[in-house]
Amino acid sequence: MIKIAPSILSADFARLGEEVRALDAAGCDYVHVDVMDGHFVPNLTIGPLVIRALRPHTAKPFDVHLMIDPAQPYLAAYAEAGADIITVHAEADRHLDRSLQMIKALGKRAGVSLNPATPAAVIEHVLDRLDLILVMTVNPGFGGQGFIPAQLDKIRRLRAMIGDRPIELEVDGGVNAETAPLVIEAGADVLVAGSAVFSGADYATSIAALRPQRQRCVAAALS
Ligand code: DX5
Ligand code: ZN
Repeated sequence: MIKIAPSILSADFARLGEEVRALDAAGCDYVHVDVMDGHFVPNLTIGPLVIRALRPHTAKPFDVHLMIDPAQPYLAAYAEAGADIITVHAEADRHLDRSLQMIKALGKRAGVSLNPATPAAVIEHVLDRLDLILVMTVNPGFGGQGFIPAQLDKIRRLRAMIGDRPIELEVDGGVNAETAPLVIEAGADVLVAGSAVFSGADYATSIAALRPQRQRCVAAALS
């Protein structure tokens, strides 16, 4: 089953609680939270206080994507605020293995994200610590950018590296109804979408449009 993780980066920040409730009602699987520090990426967004404030608005997992460097000093704060999955960038902090150990010690699911220019091989020796791999299909920092097709090959390689380990393969950036089938075909099983979900008037329709046809039929039959 393909999971959909709408990114609240494209939500109305003046009504974030309401937006998160609307995503929940629209059938999202995760709520993707983009954390940016103005240093690792050229933008500033969401701190732990905002996540804590949003936590009562849904029981869906918070998929927290940390685009911050360093991340290690803030892992506990994001865990305590209500993150369920905490993803750090392979390029941040220098000691990726330690970051993953810290996330697991906090009792959270551990993810690693790879920028477009970062090779798949960077995760080879930490695979057994991972619950999720996040492939960036844009350079992180902003919503609404164009999908980078060269990442499809990396998604295929990572799918092969994962083998039968219980690791989710998530794709983030420029995912819409046109690019979703490409990343699914390459092996992704969690799709992040910001502008594709929030540009539509009806979030349930936008979320459903990202799922494969067979899954849409099953969902329609069950509803
Ligand atoms: C980019 C963020 C993404 C972003 C995706 O730095 O990590 O999650 O919100 O936005 P879209 O789907 O509009 O490319
Ligand atoms: Zn993201």
